[in-house]
Amino acid sequence: MDLSARALILCCLLGSALCQIPVVSVEPRSTTVRQGQSTSFRCQVSGGAQPVQLEWKKGNNQALPENAKSGPDGSVLTIVNARPSNQGQYRCVASNRAGRANANAVLNVKYAPKVQLTPEGPLRVRMGDPVSVGCSATGRPKPKLSWKRQGSSLQLLTTVTNDINSVHWPAIRSEDSGVYICQAENNEGVTEVKVGITVEGGLGAPVASVSATEMTVVDGHTVVMECQASGSPQPVITWSKLRAPLPWKHTVERGVLTLTNVGRQDSGQYICNATNIHGYSEAYTQMEVESPPYTTCLPDQVKLQAGDALSIQCLAHGSHPIQLRWSRVGRANLPAGAEATNDGKLVIASVKQSDSGTYKCVATNHIGSSEAQAKVTVKA
Ligand SMILES: *[C@@H]1O[C@H](CO)[C@@H](O)[C@H](O)[C@H]1NC(C)=O
Repeated sequence: MDLSARALILCCLLGSALCQIPVVSVEPRSTTVRQGQSTSFRCQVSGGAQPVQLEWKKGNNQALPENAKSGPDGSVLTIVNARPSNQGQYRCVASNRAGRANANAVLNVKYAPKVQLTPEGPLRVRMGDPVSVGCSATGRPKPKLSWKRQGSSLQLLTTVTNDINSVHWPAIRSEDSGVYICQAENNEGVTEVKVGITVEGGLGAPVASVSATEMTVVDGHTVVMECQASGSPQPVITWSKLRAPLPWKHTVERGVLTLTNVGRQDSGQYICNATNIHGYSEAYTQMEVESPPYTTCLPDQVKLQAGDALSIQCLAHGSHPIQLRWSRVGRANLPAGAEATNDGKLVIASVKQSDSGTYKCVATNHIGSSEAQAKVTVKA
């Protein structure tokens, strides 16, 4: 044993800080974020022998999720765009030559409900059959579940077993045909899932069904809705739109409704009605037309004196959610002192002559994006 090793042992016997394991803590000890938000934890060393190495782990000893990153010295752990699966304990492990110590932090991730129906439907059942549909949901906080019939606000009586909320008909009747909605709600949001139930039966009476109970289409496209009907004599099929006339650019041929060049105003509920001498049957298709953003700047030209305040509003129409982003044409960054607010404004409290130029607002949704420009001139 050489001299320095002996010296070290001696120091340790004397209780020197040279031989103490790290003293470590984590800040904050617990935090709650929404899904998609980012957060970070800081690991602090307040004692023990130097050098101290820091490392972060998930839970007891698992690797970090790929959206969790720790800085070069390991002191800060950042979780970017948090997911429900990121919920749990994170551990900062500090080690030095004397040993290792841990400190823990807890991350809670809140998220809006996700709903699952079993069976998913649409369902075609025979009159008199027993039918049940179960609804379950994930979400944090734990969502509350309820069932109702489309067009009615009354909650249906349900049974709950193992967190599955079910509607049940011991013997279904033809007037039970319709669309049923399971709603899951927590503080983060409300999610609804629909199931269409068609009860077939009654000799010769029509039973109508549509090929899709819900459709989402993009602005300008052509939509084809099919409706089929059983019954004898062969039912006659007509199409209508709930509380509105059919769009004028429509055709109906053998039960197939075609809408060309749809716009947002064509969104709504379309009804197929199959009629014969025994009665009629309706089936519904809910159609949503989505559009890319259309963007404008208000105003799109501004003339100011140095020292004036600048405020330009970016406006976008189209399917929500829409993200707005301001930038300066030909430059990497907005000028110092410029701020893009959450509601889409570009603001500079006191403009300088060098702030003159063209500014651009880009609006983006899940369909596409578009941009608008505003010209700013500042005189000395
Ligand atoms: C379907 O047709 C029946 C009988 O012709 C009628 O009473 C009913 O109102 C129609 N429904 C719709 C939504 O047009």
